[in-house]
Amino acid sequence: MKGLYQVAAALAASPLVLSVPNTNPLTPRATTFNNPVLWQDHPDLDVFRVGDVFYYSSSTFAYSPGAPVLKSYDLVNWEPVSHSVPELNFGSKYNLNGTGSAYVKGIWASSLRYRASNDKFYWMGCVEGKTHIWTSPGNGAAKNKGEVSNWNWTSNPPINSCYYDCGILVDDDDTMYVVYGNTDISVAQLSADGLKQVKSQSVYKHSGETIEGSRMYKINGYYYIFVTRPASAEYVLRSKSVWGPYTMKTILSNIKGPLSSAGVAHQGGIVGTADNKWYYAAFLDAYPGGRIPVLAPITWTSDGWPQLVTDNGSWGKSYPMPVQTTKTVASPLGTDEFKGTSLSHEWEWNHNPDKTKFRLLGGADGGLVLQTADVTNDLFAARNTLTHRIMGPKSSGTFRLDISKMKDGDRAGAVLFRDRAAYIGIHKDGETSTIVMVNGLTLSEDNWSTTGRGNVAARGPNVGAGTGEVWFRITADITPAFGTNTERTTSFAYSIDGGRTYANLGPAFGMSNSWRYFTGYRFGVFNFATKAKGGEVTVKSFGMQLV
Ligand SMILES: *[C@@H]1O[C@H](CO)[C@@H](O)[C@H](O)[C@H]1NC(C)=O
Ligand SMILES: *[C@@H]1O[C@H](CO)[C@@H](O)[C@H](O)[C@H]1NC(C)=O
Ligand SMILES: *[C@@H]1O[C@H](CO)[C@@H](O)[C@H](O)[C@H]1NC(C)=O
Ligand SMILES: *[C@@H]1O[C@H](CO)[C@@H](O)[C@H](O)[C@H]1NC(C)=O
Repeated sequence: MKGLYQVAAALAASPLVLSVPNTNPLTPRATTFNNPVLWQDHPDLDVFRVGDVFYYSSSTFAYSPGAPVLKSYDLVNWEPVSHSVPELNFGSKYNLNGTGSAYVKGIWASSLRYRASNDKFYWMGCVEGKTHIWTSPGNGAAKNKGEVSNWNWTSNPPINSCYYDCGILVDDDDTMYVVYGNTDISVAQLSADGLKQVKSQSVYKHSGETIEGSRMYKINGYYYIFVTRPASAEYVLRSKSVWGPYTMKTILSNIKGPLSSAGVAHQGGIVGTADNKWYYAAFLDAYPGGRIPVLAPITWTSDGWPQLVTDNGSWGKSYPMPVQTTKTVASPLGTDEFKGTSLSHEWEWNHNPDKTKFRLLGGADGGLVLQTADVTNDLFAARNTLTHRIMGPKSSGTFRLDISKMKDGDRAGAVLFRDRAAYIGIHKDGETSTIVMVNGLTLSEDNWSTTGRGNVAARGPNVGAGTGEVWFRITADITPAFGTNTERTTSFAYSIDGGRTYANLGPAFGMSNSWRYFTGYRFGVFNFATKAKGGEVTVKSFGMQLV
């Protein structure tokens, strides 16, 4: 008994002592990998290689910073290392400060590429009718096996037309092109600096069905444009000239995927390894978890058409490892104690944050202070909700909060964030801080305005003014249930004994499988005022583990 207690106490007292698990489905020296490669919501992927490093850009809608950049040495283990769009400079509603909200607007399918000639990364995406461009120096990435020592993104004047679902190509002769469009696919040639349009021309008109999500490659003298028929097929167009004419072949159509109730693998793009093996990286509609990446090899026919390597006609659950390397990236699981001078790239705010209302404490203990940024009774209207992708198929996210500086009327806690949301947290009224579980927080699927501000579904204990810390845990099952009536569930729990024991609070929460919000469920931490600003909480740690 005593022995057990000591073990528990030691674990509780040192949250850094993690069992760093076999989180990724595989270790770097594994000979095979499993799909999905990273069970997290990273949709609309654009994958390319610089030296030994594979980069992956994905879309983030109104979350800020936007367009995360992930890196990998083997196409299977991925770590976010930057965001191409550090601040959503698309209009005031992205600040969530009085001119409406931007939920489900913002960064949709966009593109990221490296140009060796000027050692620059280019990110482009159509937002609010214009094509926004952010660039970062590569710090010699091409000469340094693809490594970037210091990302530094700056925005450039947008191009005044929308390159819908765009894909950047840096041609062999260094000319830059962007392919884009819906059903009528166009190519734009860019100026020498890659920042302006020189000309644009329709290159392929499809009929009878929609195509979009373009990516463009130049391989062995051919231009290839990959397009999707959402969300059930992937096609490839090919031509000797960038301007066409293009002919089309099918890569896949309505094939079975590696996961059930997760749709057909589609969109994304292809990438080659240093030893010239090629892979197609696509995504699955894996709601309620969002859209998650899957990988499969491709081979080339003798006359230069790519073909998907299937497992007897289906997208394989497992394939040989693309690259054998001893280089590794950080695990997507584990504990963040907010010890750095900036937030890690795992984190994104619900909109652009009010930067005056949060700070990292630094020092040996770390911690993130969230002051109340808004007076509101609508969590969706409150700035500075900080979100984190959920690891599938089922994981827990545990926030350790110091609540001792909350003020009368403040609401803070851990939220399961999406357009149908729920939270566990503290409602502070007068001198009383009550642990509550709240559900019924909803946005309208028609216009993303708030339709439900939440109902207290269960009350836990009052925690006295002297109580420093409460631990909130959300355990979410995001096993895909897309296109089914099955509701995956989430449970909410708290600990008031330093994370030793947890008590569940409230009913199980059924998650929405709808695709219309696009982004999957996330863990989040929030702190807003209903009466007056001035209160704060400190987030001491966040830990995510598979359960
Ligand atoms: C909203 O935020 C932006 C950017 O921080 C700021 O320029 C603007 O003044 C703010 N508007 C209001 C109404 O607070
Ligand atoms: C980032 O780039 C800007 C110019 O765009 C420059 O002024 C600044 O010094 C750079 N910062 C770092 C840390 O390299
Ligand atoms: C391959 O697929 C066919 C058609 O779906 C099926 O009849 C056959 O049993 C499958 N073979 C294997 C080895 O799974
Ligand atoms: C948004 O849609 C809801 C119905 O889902 C409706 O009640 C509300 O009036 C709409 N709001 C706006 C601003 O259009």
